[in-house]
Amino acid sequence: MSVVTDLNRWLATDFADTNTFLEEAYFADRAEIVYENIDLDQRKRALRDDGAALVTRIGDVEGDPYDLLGAVGLYLAACRRHEVDVPESAQAVAGRLGVALGVAPRFVFAHLSTHNPAARTFTRLPHEQAFNTYNGLAVLGYDRAAAALRRVPSVATSLAGALYEEALAGLEAVLDAGRALAAELDGARFFLNVRPYFKPHVVCGTEYRGANAGDFAAVNDIDLALGLCDVGDPFYQRILVEKYPYVPPEDQPRLRTPPVNLLTLVEETGTHTEKFLAVCRAHGAAYAFHHHRLVVPFLAKPAENVPPDRLARLTASGPPLDVVLATLSRLVDLRAARDRPGTAHGRLSDLRNGARPQVSDRRGSGLPR
Ligand code: HEM
Repeated sequence: MSVVTDLNRWLATDFADTNTFLEEAYFADRAEIVYENIDLDQRKRALRDDGAALVTRIGDVEGDPYDLLGAVGLYLAACRRHEVDVPESAQAVAGRLGVALGVAPRFVFAHLSTHNPAARTFTRLPHEQAFNTYNGLAVLGYDRAAAALRRVPSVATSLAGALYEEALAGLEAVLDAGRALAAELDGARFFLNVRPYFKPHVVCGTEYRGANAGDFAAVNDIDLALGLCDVGDPFYQRILVEKYPYVPPEDQPRLRTPPVNLLTLVEETGTHTEKFLAVCRAHGAAYAFHHHRLVVPFLAKPAENVPPDRLARLTASGPPLDVVLATLSRLVDLRAARDRPGTAHGRLSDLRNGARPQVSDRRGSGLPR
């Protein structure tokens, strides 16, 4: 039996059982973690040692290296979550896989969703399953919309309308998934038992930021295809550069090659204006929902009761929560084209009002108006 097979079997059995047991114990205490309990501490150490014994035996990679990084990455993230230090020899296996793939050497949300043939989870909790499934469905919806929008410039005008409709359906699926998540997710369970696996952690001396459901290229494809964001805008450029190592390898070229700006195309041709505007509205609505109905109630609100010493490491990315919220709020302004400096608000209003801009009038959506 190969070590990778053994590792996979362990992740599906003892690993998931131990995490579930620890989560139930933490939850019974209404705590993010429980210290100085002999039984729990033994279980945390056993998880670390059993995983390290398997991971350090991994030699030449067999199978899909990104999938293997997911397996090793889940183990590292669980050790971080239970605050047990992983031997450097085990960290180095993730490091080796990350370097070979050109990605951060840690698990990312794709390893629980779009790149998860083994259906791995950290725990057996239904709360984690719901979180992974609805977030994953939202990612699929974004993928669907992005793929349709990328094709618009190369199809006949008579077909472009169908692609805008397809993009609209994809973005409506994103909003539906967000709504279902908001309705079903138990806030306390999410905060105490799911989110802690997504924290930043160190691999061989370097700290990598935490995972989040936004680490895929499609959402940025859509931003740029709709002309709502601009790669020349320093704020938005930082978002792209920062997320680059955390997206799956095949998403990286997409972050490097922005799609054709359809806002400019629609302004020039005047075709499918209504459908284009409907897609913009759906993108803004889905992301505003993310902010006001997911981030605020499931993260910002519960964080108000967190002791100050734990608050600093609360978000996935590492920066303090107010900084993260400000960034996300600016993304809402851009994606919903709100009436703020540097958004596409004016250009979309012109389109809505049927104005055809003069060529000299046309400006990038990232520039102040
Ligand atoms: C309870 C549910 C959710 C919470 C609490 C949440 C929270 C967050 C937070 C805090 C960030 C900023 C990352 C950081 O720096 O810490 C973020 C980013 C992001 N999330 Fe969520 N999120 C949730 C669900 C979702 C879902 C369902 C999607 C849809 C795919 C999603 C898409 C994104 C995107 C796209 C970003 C990155 C910003 C960007 O690059 O555009 N999130 N989320």
